[in-house]
Amino acid sequence: MIIKDDNCFILNTTNTTYAFRVMDTGHLEHLYYGRKINISKETLSAIVEKHEFINGNLNYYDNEHKNIGLENIKLELSSYGKGDIRESSIDLVFEDGSFTSDFLYVSSQVNKLKTGIPDLPTAYDDCKAGAELEVVLKEKYHEIYLHLYYYVFTDCDCITRRMTIVNKDNESVKIKKIMSLQLDFDDYRYILSTFNGAWAREMNRNDFKITSGKHVNASYCGVSSSRSNPFIMLRKYHTDEDMGDAYGFNLIYSGNHYEAFEVNSFNKARLVLGINPQLFEYTLKTNESFNTPEAVMTYSKNGLNDMSNNMHEFVREHIVRGAWKAKPRPVLLNSWEASYFHINEHSLLKLANEAKKCGIELFVLDDGWFGKRSDDTKSLGDWEVNQHKLPHGINGLSQKIKKLGLDFGLWVEPEMINVDSDLYRLHPEWVIDITNRDHSEGRNQRILDYTNPAVTDYIIEKMTEVFASGDISYVKWDMNRIFSDYYSKALKPEEQSSLSHRYCVGLYKVMKELTDRFPHILFEGCASGGNRFDLGILCYFPQIWASDDTDALCRAQMQHNYSYGYPLSVVGAHVSNVPNHQTLRKTPLETRFNVAAFGIFGYELNLVDLNDEEKKAIKAQVEIYKKYRHTLQFGRFYRGRSFQVFNSNETVLNQSDGNLLEWTVVSQNQEEAIGLMMQKINVANTSTHLYYPKGLKEDFLYNIKNREMKYNVKEFGDLINMLSPVHIKQDSFLHNVIAKFVKLDGEKENYIAYGDTLMYAGLHLHQAFAGTGYNDKVRYFPDFGSRIYFITKEEK
Ligand code: GLA
Repeated sequence: MIIKDDNCFILNTTNTTYAFRVMDTGHLEHLYYGRKINISKETLSAIVEKHEFINGNLNYYDNEHKNIGLENIKLELSSYGKGDIRESSIDLVFEDGSFTSDFLYVSSQVNKLKTGIPDLPTAYDDCKAGAELEVVLKEKYHEIYLHLYYYVFTDCDCITRRMTIVNKDNESVKIKKIMSLQLDFDDYRYILSTFNGAWAREMNRNDFKITSGKHVNASYCGVSSSRSNPFIMLRKYHTDEDMGDAYGFNLIYSGNHYEAFEVNSFNKARLVLGINPQLFEYTLKTNESFNTPEAVMTYSKNGLNDMSNNMHEFVREHIVRGAWKAKPRPVLLNSWEASYFHINEHSLLKLANEAKKCGIELFVLDDGWFGKRSDDTKSLGDWEVNQHKLPHGINGLSQKIKKLGLDFGLWVEPEMINVDSDLYRLHPEWVIDITNRDHSEGRNQRILDYTNPAVTDYIIEKMTEVFASGDISYVKWDMNRIFSDYYSKALKPEEQSSLSHRYCVGLYKVMKELTDRFPHILFEGCASGGNRFDLGILCYFPQIWASDDTDALCRAQMQHNYSYGYPLSVVGAHVSNVPNHQTLRKTPLETRFNVAAFGIFGYELNLVDLNDEEKKAIKAQVEIYKKYRHTLQFGRFYRGRSFQVFNSNETVLNQSDGNLLEWTVVSQNQEEAIGLMMQKINVANTSTHLYYPKGLKEDFLYNIKNREMKYNVKEFGDLINMLSPVHIKQDSFLHNVIAKFVKLDGEKENYIAYGDTLMYAGLHLHQAFAGTGYNDKVRYFPDFGSRIYFITKEEK
C-alpha cells in the first residue's frame, strides 16, 4: 500500500490515496489526498501542477529554477524564507540569528514496523497490517535533518504523520515552530469545523468558510482544553453527514495544540497542525533531536458519518490499548453529585447498597476522601486517607463494597497541589509558579512541576501506594485547572519556553508507568470534565469523563459532537438528578438514561433519596443497558438530525428545525442496532415524527420496537379532569394517590421491515400528543422527550 518509485510516493489505504513527489529543486510537492485513485509513476504527471513561468511578484526559488515560486506550490513541508509566505511547518533560528531554512530531499525508505517515540505516545498497529514511509530531508546549509514518518493504517483509512528533527550540526538551533502535519489543497472550497466551548459547555461545533486569510484553532492554556478540542474537520461545501468529501484530523497530544487553515492568494488552501508555537521555543544542541506529536488524518467520500467511523475505528484499534481496550465497561455509580465532599463510610456504604440493588457494577468514590479535604481549598497533594471519614481506610471500605458485590474505584488528582497541604509546606519548589510573585490560582490549586523528575518519581510512588491500598479496579484521574505563571525551578532559563511541552512528556511518563504497574485498573481521564479530551490521554486511559454537565439536553448535543472524532467507547456519560446541578433543568429520567446509554454509562446521583418508582426505573434501565451494552459501547455510530443546525442562507429557520436529534448505533455484524430520537421543545400541534435509522443492512429483515413504558398521570397535570368523573385538584392528596396506583400505558411500536425501508422511507412513529386526545396509541413526547428503539435482525 506504499508505492515508492523513484521520486514519487503513493500511500493507499482501502479507500483513500495520498500522493507526493520530489521536485527538481529537492522540495516535496504534495499532489493529492482524497478518494482512492489509480495512480502510478507512469501516470503521475496528470496530477502534477505545471509551472512554466513564475507568477508576477513572486520570488523564484533559485537561479536554476526561475519558474518555481514556492508561494504557489503545494508542499509537504514548508519553511520560512525561500518564497513560501504561508503557514510554515518549521521555523528555526540559527546561532547567527538568521531564520531562513530550506529542507531538501535526501532519502526515503519503507519501514515494516512503526517507529516509536520514546517520550510521547503514538498510535500502534498490533496486526502490523500497515506500513511506514520515512522520508529524510536536510537543511541546505546545515547538518540538520528532518525525518518525516507517514504510517498507513489501511483498515480504517487513516494515515498518521509526524516529524523528528535531528541536529548533527556543530552549532545549536532554536526551534520556534514545528508542526506534525501539513496538508495543501488545490482549492479553498472547504468548510472548517472546530469544536469549542468552556467548562460544562464542551464541544460546540463551529463551521467556517474561509475564502481568504486564515482561521486558527488552538489551545494555549497548557492542556488540549475544552476551549478548543484538537479534533477538526474539513468538508466540501455540499458534504453532509452521509455524502460528500469529508476529512478529519487530530493530534496525539494533551498540551497546547495549533491547527491553522489558510487560503492564499492563489486560492490554494493549507492546513497545518502540531504543538502551538505561541511562546514555544526549544533549543536543540548538537546531536540532540526533537519529536513532534503524531497527527492523524482520515478521508471519506461518503460524508461525515463515514469519516467519523474511520476515526472511531482508529481510536478503538490503534490508540486505546491494554486490558480494557475491547472489554465491556462496567455500569458505575459515582459519589460526586450524590455527596460532593460530604462523605463518610456509613453514607457511602448506604449508597453502594442501593447501587447494588439497581444492578450497578462499580462504585466510585470521588473527591473528599484524603487529607483534610472538606472543600476544594486544601489537601491536594496529601494522598493519605482521612481517618475521620473513613476509619477503616480505603482497604476497609473497598472490602466492604466488594462484599456487597460491587467493584470499587477511586478519584485522584495527582498533578495538583493546594498551598494548604503538607506536601506544599515540604516542597514549595515542586510547583509551577514564580518564586516571590503572586500566583493566579485555579480552583484554589497549583500545578505540580512534572518537568522535574523528582516530582514525577514521587507521584509514581505515591500513586502506587494509593492504588495498592485497597481492592481498586477503577481510577478517575482528574486535572482541574489550566496553567498560569509558567515557571519551573527545575529547568534552565532557556528551557522555560518549552515548559508546557516538557510537562506533557512528564505526564506521559507518569501515566505510562502507573498503567503498566496496574494493568487491571480501568482508568478514566477527567479534567474538570472535558478540558483534556484528546488522543494523548486515550493512549493510556481507555475512557474520559466528557463533561461536568450532566444535563441530558446539553449532553445530547455534546455527545453528538464528540462523536465526530471519538467513538462511544471513550465518552463517559452519567445519569444525574433533576433539577440538574449545572442548569437547574428538569428532564425526564428516561431521557437522561437514553442519552447516557450512548456513552460509557453510569449514574451520579443520590440513589438513597430516590423514591421507589425511580429506583425501579433505574433498575430496569441498568438491565436493558447490560443487554445491549456491547453494541452501545463498540458498535458503529451514526448521527442523524441534530439540535445544532446550520443555516447558510441567513434566513429564519422553520421552528421544527433543530428540534430533533437522532442517533443509531449498529453492531459490527449489523444484526443489532439501537436508535435514539430526542426532542428539544415541544412544537404545538406537531404529531407526526419519523425515525430514520442508519447503518443497517439494506436487505436484512429487522424487527424494530420501543421500550414499553408506563407514564405517571401527573405528567398530564389537571388534564386528568378530562377523564375523571369527579374533579381532581392538581397536586392534591387525591391526585397523588391516583398517581401512585394508576399508570398510563405508553405507545407500543413493533414492526418488521427491511433495512432499506427503515433507513430510506423512515419509520412512521405513533402520533405524538398534540393537545387533542390521548390513549395508549399516542406518544407522550413532552419537552426533552426521547425514545430508544431496539432493532434486531429477523430470520427470514
Ligand atoms: C472535577 C471533576 C468532577 C469531580 C470534581 C471533584 O470538577 O470534573 O467530576 O470529580 O472535580 O472535585
